[in-house]
Amino acid sequence: VVPELASREHLRKIVPVVDEALARANVKLPDINAIAVTKGPGLIGSLLVGVVFGKSLALALSKPLIGVNHLEGHIHAVLLQNKLARLEDPSVAEARLPAVTLVVSGGHTSLFRTDVNSASQNGGKMNLIYERMGQTRDDAAGEAFDKVAKLLALGYPGGPLIDRLARHGNQNAVKLGRIKMRGHQLDFSFSGLKTAVLYRVRGTALAGEAEERRAWSKSEGCVTVDELRAHCSQKTLDLVAGFQNAVVTDLVERTLAAAESAHIRTIFVSGGVACNSLLRERFTKAAKQKRLEVFFPTPALSTDNAAMIAAAGCARLIAGERDGVLLSAHASLPLGV
Ligand code: KG4
Ligand code: ZN
Repeated sequence: VVPELASREHLRKIVPVVDEALARANVKLPDINAIAVTKGPGLIGSLLVGVVFGKSLALALSKPLIGVNHLEGHIHAVLLQNKLARLEDPSVAEARLPAVTLVVSGGHTSLFRTDVNSASQNGGKMNLIYERMGQTRDDAAGEAFDKVAKLLALGYPGGPLIDRLARHGNQNAVKLGRIKMRGHQLDFSFSGLKTAVLYRVRGTALAGEAEERRAWSKSEGCVTVDELRAHCSQKTLDLVAGFQNAVVTDLVERTLAAAESAHIRTIFVSGGVACNSLLRERFTKAAKQKRLEVFFPTPALSTDNAAMIAAAGCARLIAGERDGVLLSAHASLPLGV
């Protein structure tokens, strides 16, 4: 993603996208209660386009404005999907929390202890609180999927393609090893794994195959996953399956370790990589074995979407929070303590 081009696209699309969302929801601007807008983290140019647009809209319509942390949005996607955030009845969420949340996307791989301030202490209002338990020290998991897909000329974004192709490979054929962490065991690191894949490709027949695939897909333009698979050798499919297995194993094991260390029995998984079919399968199986409860949003709500920002904004609105015209965007806005 080229930051400058991304902000220009945001500028071009923000009005038509808002118009279409209102049309599909069959509401008019005066009917809405408040404006929620992402204030970070992310690419600063794109964030600023959204924040300035949101502020202008709130000012013009005299509606409350709420700046939302993108990662809090991903956590609210889980609550929204599973109807855990019955805002009029905070006890529904309280019964499930605290949870360990894995936010796993193209930009983030983080674990948060997610809890709710007791409604009774908080005047009956739901107020979620977050404590970061671990995070990636280098690449995010989604970024690793995208980089491996780029190396093998599979297309972009790489995650969904690797997910589909890996079903045809043997995940045990290539030994990539476990990801080892020095120090804090709830942190993540995916750059070593990406390099391990690179070493399996560089100077081998797989590199030539990838170059042929790159030329082929460029000449074809749009290709289907089945066509792509037909242009992959079994060795490439095995490598892709081994890579996905290594990432998923690591994500599941560290999340379970976080839950165990904090004596927590609820797990939330959200973000683009939460769409991954092997990740869902492994979490569901592990949860059953260990008698934990695991909650995902649907794939559409897992990946970046506006409903999750509205849901997080709604909780803050009910809790009485408001932002003013001084609201600004922050590229590396942290979540929690
Ligand atoms: O949450 P998201 O839509 O945007 C960010 O905030 O980054 O996540 C996008 C990321 C991309 O890296 C994409 O390759 C990955 O999520 N992704 C997947 C799958 N679907 C999307 N990764 C693995 N398996 C998938 N099925
Ligand atoms: Zn995201």
